[in-house]
Amino acid sequence: MIALGSDHAGFYLKEEVRRYLDERGIKYKDFGANSEESVNYAEYAEKVANSIVKRECKRGIVICGTGIGISIAANKVNGIRAAACSDYYSAIMSRRHNDSNILALGARVVGPGLALTIVEGWLNEDYEGDRHQERLDYISEIEARNRG
Ligand code: RB5
Repeated sequence: MIALGSDHAGFYLKEEVRRYLDERGIKYKDFGANSEESVNYAEYAEKVANSIVKRECKRGIVICGTGIGISIAANKVNGIRAAACSDYYSAIMSRRHNDSNILALGARVVGPGLALTIVEGWLNEDYEGDRHQERLDYISEIEARNRG
């Protein structure tokens, strides 16, 4: 199950992503926003992030204007590795090397064609593990050391 979330700026692109997933029979849970009415991206980032750490959803896609605010907010949740990507290479490498569990897109940065190409690459790519795992373990240790 893929978790989806956006703010108002990302709403239309989230609709495109929903269509993409529907056409391929990929299951998702849409946490909103549900319109272009102005909202706070952090709220939707937190909902998507929580669904992943609680294992309700496997991975998530979040969208705001730039992909930056919503990725920063998602990364505040322990266990989340959100990657803001506006190119294909970064997106697939974020899976291979960083085991990104959230892809963040900027609806004002990438057009729908490129965005869906990025989504496809990111969904299909696997984590390589191996030497990358000790780096991810270190990141988890940073989280543990800095828990409030
Ligand atoms: C909303 O105007 C915009 O600030 C937001 O979508 C996002 O780009 C923040 O990082």
